[in-house]
Amino acid sequence: MTNNPQELSTKHILGIKYIQKNDIELIFKTASHFKEVINRPIKKVPSLRDVTIANLFFENSTRTKISFELAEKRLSADVVNFSASGSSVKKGETLLDTVNNILSMKVDMVVMRHPAPGAHHFLAKHIDASIVNAGDGTHEHPTQALLDAFSMQEKIGSLAGKKIAIIGDIKHSRVALSNIYCLQKLGAKVKVCGPPTLIPKHLSELGVEIDYDINRTLRWCDVANILRIQLERQDIKYIPSLREYSQYFGVTKQILDGLQKEIVIMHPGPINRGIEISSDVADSDHSIILQQVENGVAVRMAILYLLASKRGERKLET
Ligand code: CP
Repeated sequence: MTNNPQELSTKHILGIKYIQKNDIELIFKTASHFKEVINRPIKKVPSLRDVTIANLFFENSTRTKISFELAEKRLSADVVNFSASGSSVKKGETLLDTVNNILSMKVDMVVMRHPAPGAHHFLAKHIDASIVNAGDGTHEHPTQALLDAFSMQEKIGSLAGKKIAIIGDIKHSRVALSNIYCLQKLGAKVKVCGPPTLIPKHLSELGVEIDYDINRTLRWCDVANILRIQLERQDIKYIPSLREYSQYFGVTKQILDGLQKEIVIMHPGPINRGIEISSDVADSDHSIILQQVENGVAVRMAILYLLASKRGERKLET
């Protein structure tokens, strides 16, 4: 437990499982401040001047990579970007050798996306720099969960007692697991919905309700966070066809119109339009998908700022 409400309890963000409710609340409070900063005509603050951050992406990304880079630049950090494709990883260099070589160039923090679950825990045991998990395989995506919960809270207020449905390919989703941990720490009720083959049975052990009926799930929830089918992670066929998935689990305007209540629609992206969500739902007034992306920059600024503060490398100013 941290005794200082202005300081994170941890020097890394490896997963939501490993942080406390106090940490989440501190990140949200700090993110609200940075959201105000990035809406000013001058969007930059000197908080991380002379701090160097390496963004190491061993897997594809659009939103997370750009969001971290913008967050770092808005904080005046020095930034280096690394992608596995085109690097010496292709020549057989190990993860630890790659990272140690980059760190020897005086890097203070590492933001990393890696396909191997637990890669960040491994690194944290071997290096001194603070590590932020930008996604590890099918395990966790903590900054996505934080920006999702921040966006929900902005839209519907305190999440305590609120009903949040996570719909789609739960089995292969790091967003799902991080969302479950985060929402439960904030007191929300969580239900997951999808085809039985795409919902791991052990989730019920986390206190999550499991439902295979999309209509019942949507009638139940205040917020629906819709996930894509991760075709790139499906080693066997978990669903007969995308057309069938869309027919049984796709969220359409017709279903929402039949609910006779308003729910908030979210999606972490990238969206498969016409499969898990129809375009008229993704682009509707119920959708906060682009607000999620906007909030991602402020939330990541907050995380980097608080980690640098925890490291005590500098007196921080915003
Ligand atoms: N939401 C998300 O992680 O998107 P990217 O894979 O584009 O970073």
